Amino acid sequence: MDFLSRTRYVPMNRRRRIYEGKGKILYEGPEPGTLIQHFKDDATAFNNKKHEIVDGKGVLNNRISEFIFNHLNEIGIPTHFLRRMNMREQLIREVEMIPLEVVVRNVAAGSLSKRLGLDEGTPLPRSIIEFYYKNDALDDPMVSEEHITAFGWCAPQEMDDIMALAIRVNDFLSGLFLGAGIRLVDFKIECGRLWEGDMMRIVVADEISPDSCRLWDIQSNEKMDKDRFRRDLGGMLEAYQEVARRLGIINDTDRPIGGGPVLVK
Ligand code: TMP
Ligand code: ASP
Repeated sequence: MDFLSRTRYVPMNRRRRIYEGKGKILYEGPEPGTLIQHFKDDATAFNNKKHEIVDGKGVLNNRISEFIFNHLNEIGIPTHFLRRMNMREQLIREVEMIPLEVVVRNVAAGSLSKRLGLDEGTPLPRSIIEFYYKNDALDDPMVSEEHITAFGWCAPQEMDDIMALAIRVNDFLSGLFLGAGIRLVDFKIECGRLWEGDMMRIVVADEISPDSCRLWDIQSNEKMDKDRFRRDLGGMLEAYQEVARRLGIINDTDRPIGGGPVLVK
């Protein structure tokens, strides 16, 4: 499968690599101002302390993220996404990334539960936005609006734009997943500055996938996201596949993506 997706897009090793992260690679795009975002099969958690290859994860995240970003574009939420190119790659606009992870929470889980001693699954009185400074050496520490504007990572007006975007994405995604029988517990987005001549606007960038969301089955509360990997629950790929199936991205007759449930070290 990898062989096919690579040979069809030959220039892979001749393309200029702009950036390689834990889960994705960015290549120079076909036109100025564009990039190619390549989804790897690497699953990482706890800042790469836990790392495995999950055959097919990149393909699923590419498709799920495409689906979500297309919808966001359609409803007028600006994003970097242009179009999917192949199984693992999408064409995006080049943006100046803002070094923040913007987390929106609807239900207590993960680090919030730990920090405040809340049972996982406790509904929050209202949606809460948190910011984490993207810095591997520091393990992405939580920061406040004060830190962000004082250190100049973002201007105050940009913070307002980011929060407005985060709330709109939350409203849209909550409804989308609810319709698929899934509760959106929390998620993370990253934003960038898109320059168009002298004009700049903040857009949603990176990816939105089960790697960056907490998704629980509405009936059983079963986890359908990267917590399956973080917490060694097994069945990560099947869960991602089920998310894609419920969103109508893949159907029952589709050939299983990847080599099935086998985790390869
Ligand atoms: P947390 O509870 O660990 O702070 O995670 C909150 C949400 O952010 C959860 O949906 C997972 C997502 N997330 C990422 O996408 N990347 C990260 O590095 C972390 C820590 C969380
Ligand atoms: N994405 C982060 C990592 O690779 C952490 C996480 O998602 O849990 O370490």
